Amino acid sequence: MPYEPVLLARINKPDSPKLEGYRADGGYSTFERALVDLKPEQVVAQVKDSGLRGRGGAGFPCGLKWTFLPKDHPGPIYLCVNADESEPCTYNNRILMEKDPHQVLEGVMLACYAIKSRKAFFYVRYEYGDAFRTLTAAVNELYAAGLLGENILGSGFNLDIVLHRGAGAYICGEETGLIESLEGKRAWPRIKPPFPAIEGAFRKPTIVNNVETLACVTQVMKRGIDWFKSLGVPPDPKNPRDAGSYGPKLYTIAGHVNEPKCVELPMGITITDLIEQHGGGVWKGRKAKAANPGGLSMGFVRADEFHMPLDFNGPGRFQCLGLGTAAVTVIDDQTSMVDVLHNTCQFFAHESCGQCTPCREGTGWMEKITDRLRRGQGRKEDLDILIDVADRIGIMPGTTICGLADGAGWPVKTAIRKFREEFEGAIKSGEKSKYAKTLRVVGAH
Ligand SMILES: Cc1cc2nc3c(=O)[nH]c(=O)nc-3n(C[C@H](O)[C@H](O)[C@H](O)COP(=O)(O)O)c2cc1C
Ligand code: SF4
Repeated sequence: MPYEPVLLARINKPDSPKLEGYRADGGYSTFERALVDLKPEQVVAQVKDSGLRGRGGAGFPCGLKWTFLPKDHPGPIYLCVNADESEPCTYNNRILMEKDPHQVLEGVMLACYAIKSRKAFFYVRYEYGDAFRTLTAAVNELYAAGLLGENILGSGFNLDIVLHRGAGAYICGEETGLIESLEGKRAWPRIKPPFPAIEGAFRKPTIVNNVETLACVTQVMKRGIDWFKSLGVPPDPKNPRDAGSYGPKLYTIAGHVNEPKCVELPMGITITDLIEQHGGGVWKGRKAKAANPGGLSMGFVRADEFHMPLDFNGPGRFQCLGLGTAAVTVIDDQTSMVDVLHNTCQFFAHESCGQCTPCREGTGWMEKITDRLRRGQGRKEDLDILIDVADRIGIMPGTTICGLADGAGWPVKTAIRKFREEFEGAIKSGEKSKYAKTLRVVGAH
């Protein structure tokens, strides 16, 4: 039987963002029931026991993170909703916010009730004007209906949701960069510990969760643990650190496919099935050469690795960083990997906030070296230098404050290791790459 979407079930309904329609479909009854029947600790327990892992990139268990808040804290405690969504080709949060904002807001309200927060900050990336306006209308509807504000539905629970529009930078999605930006400062990620659960926004305990994670909270609380765990993939017995990949997932398909789209499926679909069954196949009758399993920062896989399952455990078994945002970008066989990698390095060099020398300089070096590769001026030693730089920058080697540097390194390592012949061929031939041939201006590098 084909999978019946839950998170995207309402997106094609007329007036899907409106409160009236959401309530007609049973919306907010889960929140209302929780206020009456459940203690905050019971909501935390249900989310924890469901095995829900964060959808923002790191896959950290959601309920477990909530338990890291200090016990019996006098408050305030804050929830920050991460809607910065800047990983290339990732747009699942946007669909949820534009098409079914109340499903997300109900998750925000359930989460705030669970963690005893009276204020949520909803941080939306600047480029998402439509999402921001839709959310503003939805939040206003909630205040007018008495579902936000003081003493909600006579329960004694107070909650405000503050919408905050970012100014447009990838680093604002890193949770402590987001908090700094929210506080009105430059989005420079903080050194951790302390983690936000102990000291976050305005130096108060703070939980940061992704938009899709919070939409899943609504569904976990509405449909229960058994439903959630009936979908997806259980823990890999060979990997003691794998906590399983349960529940539905929104995958975005982009790049060289016939039908780029956002699709909801149980966790664990393979890249092949995603492209063939949902993306309409590779475009122009061509074959695929490579793909990213979850945004650029996760690295590249070769076409002969497309049987990789897209769950939290799968990409790591194919030398990728992880599932990331589950945004699959397909690259066809007529595209130069030298061009793809240069484009990737340009992105990370541009987005590095510059605080840590290894990231600031390393991403710049990788951009410059890949630039000379694409201009046909590559040197024999360049590939090993690139891998060496990529191996040394990041949280994992312990040289940077945040994970942007790891995400900048992984595409370099995987592209060169998996497509080395193509890179060596480019150096040997001394020819400009396909895209570099079209460049009119010769840069300064
Ligand atoms: C450079 C960088 C950018 C990030 N961008 C985002 C983002 O746009 N949205 C997001 O939810 N998480 C992003 N994250 C992950 C967040 O730091 C954080 O782990 C996440 O918001 C937690 O939510 P979750 O547990 O619900 O997944 C980013 C991390 C890094 C290192
Ligand atoms: S790793 Fe890069 S992006 Fe992250 S804090 Fe350091 S310089 Fe900034």
